[in-house]
Amino acid sequence: MFQSIRVSAKGGAQALVVGQFKGEGLDAAARRLDADGSLVAASRRPDATGELGVVVESAPAPGAKKAPAERYFIVGLGERGSFAPGSMRTAAASVGRRLAGAKLTSVSFALGSSFDAAKADAEECGAAAGEGLGLLSWDGDRAFKGSATPDPKRGRLTIVADDARFRAGLGEGLALAESANLCRTLSQTPPNIATTSFMAAQARKLARATGLRCTVLEGDALVREKLTGLINVGKASENKPCLIRLEYRPRGKPPARASKPAVLIGKTMTYDTGGLSLKINNGMVGMKRDKDGGCAVLGAMHAIATVVKPRRPVVALLACAENSISDEAYRPDDILTYRNGVSVEVTNTDAEGRLVLADALCWACEKENPAYIVDLATLTGGVVVALGSTFCGMFCEDDKLRGRVEEAAKASGERVWRLPMHDEYRELMKSPVADILNSNPNRKAHPIQGAAFLSYFVEPKVPWCHLDIAGVHVAEKITGPFIEGPTGWGVRLLARLLEDE
Ligand code: BES
Ligand code: MN
Ligand code: ZN
Repeated sequence: MFQSIRVSAKGGAQALVVGQFKGEGLDAAARRLDADGSLVAASRRPDATGELGVVVESAPAPGAKKAPAERYFIVGLGERGSFAPGSMRTAAASVGRRLAGAKLTSVSFALGSSFDAAKADAEECGAAAGEGLGLLSWDGDRAFKGSATPDPKRGRLTIVADDARFRAGLGEGLALAESANLCRTLSQTPPNIATTSFMAAQARKLARATGLRCTVLEGDALVREKLTGLINVGKASENKPCLIRLEYRPRGKPPARASKPAVLIGKTMTYDTGGLSLKINNGMVGMKRDKDGGCAVLGAMHAIATVVKPRRPVVALLACAENSISDEAYRPDDILTYRNGVSVEVTNTDAEGRLVLADALCWACEKENPAYIVDLATLTGGVVVALGSTFCGMFCEDDKLRGRVEEAAKASGERVWRLPMHDEYRELMKSPVADILNSNPNRKAHPIQGAAFLSYFVEPKVPWCHLDIAGVHVAEKITGPFIEGPTGWGVRLLARLLEDE
């Protein structure tokens, strides 16, 4: 939408934005800006409903004296009582679309009085607005357009904001959106380009650019380290599996807490054909996005290294493979034994995500001394059936970690809904021939089966949160700041989670 967005404290702007709550007129501050009554008149038009994200445009009469801008936009902020900083994500995105449509290049937000009226923090409002505008400006949907599609001209945008806290928030929000947009661009990259080695190269590039440490385990190293899930799931593909490890170490300031790292794990299936349990009826289309857990973790590491800079170390593990078919493919009936000793009967090669995540979870518990683990995975179609694209399925039996994830969800607008765990679900995963199976052939509680399976690879004392993002990693239509396509779900949530550490 915009080629670049700049934030400025001073200067004139072509467009002025004021807010209007549902069922209310313009407030005194907005009326003071109204040079000739045209703004108030516009706010009384029937289309000025004040509903969140509804934008009404007007302009001062030609030659009006002291008009603060050449165009006015009144943006609906919803009911005053339900306004929260996160509302600004939607409001700013709506305004951004109108600005781009009108080819305007500078805008000034005069919303301080609205934030005050709703008792909302100006900095948090600024951050959400920055996220909204930044997410709106993602252009990765065009990355693979060729010579047959004309290149649209994208304008630059300057946001003039005189309130220092709103401005600080804007800067932070724009930066977080950039991290989320990195994730979205990777998600968008097709599987013939975004291979396992491509993902490893992306991680190395990120590490070089931001001072993270990166190591990639592949080939013999996977065998030495007994990363059996990766080895087997990745066997059939010419694109070889790997475990990508990124590490953030706080610099300059001594880590205040015990230096146990937070560990972030991402399912990074560069393509999921289902393997020999092949996906049918076009169920494969879109499976380039089966790497989105890992893409979100990469995006989060970008934010952690460039914006959040927590005092706690952070380790990222991307379990990266392509689930393909060949005479070398792993099969239903194979039995895999993991480095923690747990044996797994493969009943369905399409339940591959949990097999590679199990490696990363074992590794994290044994080698990283984690303060806690959060994993993100496009794990089950079942969670899409259960929660749609509105909530991510969350499994977390640790009250403290769950509380913190829920807080981060609230701050980022990336909603989570807790699903249950119980020993009966773990029983469902028992196998007659091995310890457990990777998928119970009855269709019961699929998303929970996935989490129950993973729980066999997490040491009981380690706080752990599993996020099944299969419903939320992609949008089917324009929603708030998103277009149809990848949402970068989890990047901003993880950034907020690490924010106070
Ligand atoms: N990657 C899929 C899950 C998925 C489905 C993500 C739809 C996004 C949209 C996963 O590997 C898978 O195939 N899951 C199976 C599990 C089953 C075989 C136990 C599923 O959900 O059907
Ligand atoms: Mn699968
Ligand atoms: Zn998958």
